[in-house]
Amino acid sequence: METTAFQLNPRTADFVKSKTIKKLFIGGQFVEAASGKTFPTYNPANGEILAYVSEGDQEDINRAVAAARDAFEDGPWTRMQPQERARLIYTLADLIERDADVFAEIETLDNGKPIREAKHADVPLTIEHFRYYAGWATKISGDVIPVNVPNMHNYVRREPIGVVGQIIPWNFPLMMAAWKLGAALATGCTVVLKPAEQTPLSALYLAKLIQEAGFPPGVVNIIPGFGETAGKALATHPDVDKVAFTGSTEVGKLIMGYAADNLKRVSLELGGKSPNIVFPDADFTRAVPGAMQAIFFNQGQVCSAGSRLYIHKSVYDNALSDMVSYADKKVRQGHGLDPKTTMGPLVTGEQLNRVTSYIEKGIEQGAKVATGGSRADGDLANGYFVRPTVFYDVQDDMAIAQEEIFGPVVAAMPFDDIDDVIKRANLSTYGLAAGVWTQSMNTAFNVAHKLKAGSVWINCYNMFDAASPFGGYKQSGIGREMGEYALENYTQIKSIWLNYN
Ligand code: NAI
Ligand code: MG
Repeated sequence: METTAFQLNPRTADFVKSKTIKKLFIGGQFVEAASGKTFPTYNPANGEILAYVSEGDQEDINRAVAAARDAFEDGPWTRMQPQERARLIYTLADLIERDADVFAEIETLDNGKPIREAKHADVPLTIEHFRYYAGWATKISGDVIPVNVPNMHNYVRREPIGVVGQIIPWNFPLMMAAWKLGAALATGCTVVLKPAEQTPLSALYLAKLIQEAGFPPGVVNIIPGFGETAGKALATHPDVDKVAFTGSTEVGKLIMGYAADNLKRVSLELGGKSPNIVFPDADFTRAVPGAMQAIFFNQGQVCSAGSRLYIHKSVYDNALSDMVSYADKKVRQGHGLDPKTTMGPLVTGEQLNRVTSYIEKGIEQGAKVATGGSRADGDLANGYFVRPTVFYDVQDDMAIAQEEIFGPVVAAMPFDDIDDVIKRANLSTYGLAAGVWTQSMNTAFNVAHKLKAGSVWINCYNMFDAASPFGGYKQSGIGREMGEYALENYTQIKSIWLNYN
């Protein structure tokens, strides 16, 4: 379906449809890339080009890091009182709220996600996130230490780390920008943010609002570009004090390597293969849709997706058939702008190939397809749509049970008892999240405490709040985003001694 079939907010139409190039945001100005190069960004629902974007690379990163350094070192941002920083972050949140519809439409056009999710999840969570961290700007305090030395006053300051490089993925483009910017700005850092090359538009619209809000030039710089060029230039830059990355575990490992040269601080939010465990005493009216939404939300392109579904063997057949009928009857695929759509396309052709090749591998290795199992055809053939897919007869060691697919594909497996399922749930190099469905408090707490995962959801899934920490055990990451915990990523501790003898 053509995008012109939908009525867009005039501001969205102006931003996305105008033939002007979307420029980089450096030192408070929109500027072309030093190379003059641009790249197209596409609507994954139909493959049409939405806009051309300036392609940042080493020289642009150098300029942006210099602007961020100027704003930080005795610059306007560092001299500003915390109250004033808070006010600017609140103002940004208000402007995002003013343009909430525009953001939702940009997000749907660039990423493919259903507009109802963009409207009810991505955008409001982004606004709340900024407001939450605006509150922190005035509450970052130090400590006084009772040292064992006479007439000595020792106190601890929590100071901003400095210039921060932030690299984000394409699955929640605006929200990932907010998760990164919120804590960095609250703590007084300055930022160079690189959005994903697949979805640069909402971050560039955000840049307009950062300018409008009146942030001093250089506090936030936004440089779209590719991973191996702009991303690597940022992560290796000798004048960047800290890098925060969200994306694949594979690239997360590269980022750690890059950081070694100047010992940048690193925080990583990486992939997952999260177990979702359904006990026989679960409330199935909630567990069945809950388990399906856990994997199908955002087309399965969610780091915490509940992609390994363990169902107790005594209820396995029934629960599985209810889940399959949920996938067949309740999921409505289509253009994200169609308000009836509950599942959009995958973000790119590359992601489509990745997901369909995992489906083929699953079949090859002997897993059975209960529903889905292919690219969508008919009206959806022009977009990157994969049918919601449920596999059964899956073994723990199959690729579809071990590797992150990042698509609407779930691997269902029966389990015998609580010890069996805890052991198998923890048999993963990942440890991002997990789900538990049971009405027994004993089961819920016992399992939740034994799972090696950064988040555990009991009788719910994919719950997020600006105040609650999120991040990974094992190879799912280092550090926590959100809540008070994220402040650690952007501050360092100074101990000061004063002799009053
Ligand atoms: P990716 O990890 O390559 O990309 C994420 C971000 O890192 C993008 O901004 C990209 O430009 C940047 N990047 C890539 N290579 C880089 C490098 N060498 N240096 C610095 N920055 C670099 O992820 P990709 O290729 O988009 O997706 C591949 C798979 O990664 C997905 O299928 C999924 O399994 C996983 N993934 C996980 C995400 C998560 O939230 N945990 C998000 C996106 C992807
Ligand atoms: Mg990549």
